[in-house]
Amino acid sequence: MNINFGIIGCGYIANRHAQHIQAHPEANLVGGFDIVPATTQAFAEKHNVTAFATLEDLLNDEQIDIVSVCTPNGAHYQAGMRVLEARKHALIEKPMTICKEHCEDLIKTALDYNRELFVVKQNRFNPPVQAVKELMLDKKLGQVYSVMVNCFWNRNEQYYLRSDWKGTKKLDGGTLFTQYSHFLDVVYYLFGDFEIINGITKNANHGSLIDFEDSGNFIFRFKKSNALGSLSYTTSCYQQNMEGSITIFAENATIKIGGKYLNTIDYQKTNNFDITDLPSSGPANNYGYYEGSMSNHDKVIHNVVQALNGREKIMTNAYDGLKVVELIENMYAVAQRID
Ligand SMILES: NC(=O)c1ccc[n+]([C@@H]2O[C@H](COP(=O)([O-])OP(=O)(O)OC[C@H]3O[C@@H](n4cnc5c(N)ncnc54)[C@H](O)[C@@H]3O)[C@@H](O)[C@H]2O)c1
Repeated sequence: MNINFGIIGCGYIANRHAQHIQAHPEANLVGGFDIVPATTQAFAEKHNVTAFATLEDLLNDEQIDIVSVCTPNGAHYQAGMRVLEARKHALIEKPMTICKEHCEDLIKTALDYNRELFVVKQNRFNPPVQAVKELMLDKKLGQVYSVMVNCFWNRNEQYYLRSDWKGTKKLDGGTLFTQYSHFLDVVYYLFGDFEIINGITKNANHGSLIDFEDSGNFIFRFKKSNALGSLSYTTSCYQQNMEGSITIFAENATIKIGGKYLNTIDYQKTNNFDITDLPSSGPANNYGYYEGSMSNHDKVIHNVVQALNGREKIMTNAYDGLKVVELIENMYAVAQRID
């Protein structure tokens, strides 16, 4: 069955959705709606699709099976609810929402209306992440002792000044939501739930550009394995992104998934199960004045098509989306600000 998409919020990432929907042999883009009419129009002309004048018009279009929600983080909940209540499936960009209760409401609504709810967490598809996931499923690593996460990126003045929502508490939510929910998602995907033991955060050099912290350090404990975990992050790296890595210390191996975007194996010493011959990762999202995460949106769209046709399970389901929001809420609740 061909899957017909609509898109709400026609900014940067919506164009990536559109590009990959239109490139997929079993997907079709019907049209988009943006709260700014000129943005809707430009998007529709660029992709040769319908410019919906209102959200109602998009939701009333009977051709549309699923809607990509590509609005700012703080608007995912309202848009997602409207999509599900219109009896359409939803594909929500990361983070699922910036409030756990809103995730719960979305999940209940999807169940009530018998619709599917997908969350975009494209780093799960990175070849090194998939290789370590297989090792975990095969129980090759043995006991996991500790997992250490480093997220060292640069987000400069231009990044915040060019956006009317990035850096705001209400629509962005925080650095852990916008920049590093990808990393927390991969940690959760590989090693399960964790309890936050302690944390400190600080706005080191972004001043009034952001309503929240730009740096933090957290320690946590994985619930199932009792392994120790830590996260160090900043968006204050000098001039450019430096590293995005997860290092695993386990009974049978030490492995560092690294590069800037979890796209390479930077170190491995294993008990004869080295990860070799990985397919190369695709390029990172390049925004000109900064670089984002890996661009695996083609795989996200393919998974939607496959799942709605009953051929694959959903790669990132709503429960996982909720868990990451819950983890981030817990981190911010525990953290001591030391500005
Ligand atoms: N998966 C990834 O790697 C990735 C990368 C970039 C952005 N994102 C996520 O995608 C979302 C959008 O980010 P972006 O960089 O495209 O932002 P953007 O500012 O370029 O685009 C957002 C668009 O949403 C529109 N909008 C705002 N409120 C709306 C509403 N209520 N209804 C309809 N349209 C509305 C804005 O006018 C804007 O055009 C965010 O949640 C962000 O975290 C994910």
